[in-house]
Amino acid sequence: MGAPVSIKEVAAHAGVSVGTVSNVLNRPDIVAKATRERVHAAIKALGFVRNESARQLRAGRSRMIGLVVLDVANPFFTDIALGVEEEANRSGLSVMLCNSADQLPKQARHLELLEEQRVQGILITPVAGTGEHLTRLQRSGTPVILVDSRSTSGGLCAVAVDDVLGGDLAVSHLLKARHKRLAYVGGPLAIRQVSDRHDGAIRALRRAGLGAEHLTMIETPALNVAAGQQAGSAIAKLAAGQRPTGVFCANDLIALGLLQEMTKHGIRVPEDIAIVGYDDIEFAAAAAVPLSSVRQPRRQLGHTAARLLLEEAIGEDPHTHQQVMFEPELVVRQSSAEHRGTQRVRRTRQRQYESP
Ligand code: RIB
Repeated sequence: MGAPVSIKEVAAHAGVSVGTVSNVLNRPDIVAKATRERVHAAIKALGFVRNESARQLRAGRSRMIGLVVLDVANPFFTDIALGVEEEANRSGLSVMLCNSADQLPKQARHLELLEEQRVQGILITPVAGTGEHLTRLQRSGTPVILVDSRSTSGGLCAVAVDDVLGGDLAVSHLLKARHKRLAYVGGPLAIRQVSDRHDGAIRALRRAGLGAEHLTMIETPALNVAAGQQAGSAIAKLAAGQRPTGVFCANDLIALGLLQEMTKHGIRVPEDIAIVGYDDIEFAAAAAVPLSSVRQPRRQLGHTAARLLLEEAIGEDPHTHQQVMFEPELVVRQSSAEHRGTQRVRRTRQRQYESP
């Protein structure tokens, strides 16, 4: 199915301006009968369908929505952006993608620019400590939806994944494979997603009757491949009997950097060290040793966030903010498997809460 017929194509087909087509649709009483008939004939011939949600979008606003992410180099966020764009395009809108690089001043500049651009609304994975800026935007009439984050006050719509469960799934899997010397590689811990995954890992240890001392925390300065390589280099320097035999990484970029470093040092994966990542980005399955990973429903996160924004932008007042929480799924591949092949341990489910 091709792209929907635009109002511009109808105008060209009828030999009138876009404004005249808009008048025929919205104020037919001011258009001559013969012109109305020509325009309706063009609408019928082309199969034009009015985009109700776009028409209802607030006047005086651009046909854009803003998406502010922590790290545009992380495929996790570009997959979310694809989901946002698919939903936005269905309403005739485009997406302005902004990269905060996990820096508050950069994020603030993007938010100011998006507000100046009069976007329909802003989707954001906020930098830790973002504070009042988002609430002020919301109060000034720009809907703000939190992505991969939670609204503790319930004052904003939010879409996230249960990262505590994700960490629990990852470490439970390693414990089931009888790993007792475990490590968690990721950071900074100030990033909520990183600390929640750590909490889930500790919960899995406790359920297995093990103390936190069985999980070495290797905090990294960032969540990228280079940080995974640095952590891998430190692990490779340990004597074999001191090294963790199972490593849970806070995201796939860290895990891929660690995997590369293990290979470089001749440390076999999973025989000498099992590795589990997080996000299940496309490169996880394609890695030299296919990577086990806790899968996040990235496109669904994007679709849901964009849908919540459109509901808030054109929905009936008073809008009820929603806290949507997805559940992750562990995908077991060769990097941590006791046997070859891929297993899926838990289906992604969506739980929906409406803020009071
Ligand atoms: O933003 C850092 C990480 O948190 C991403 O890799 C993704 O896992 C997100 O939830």
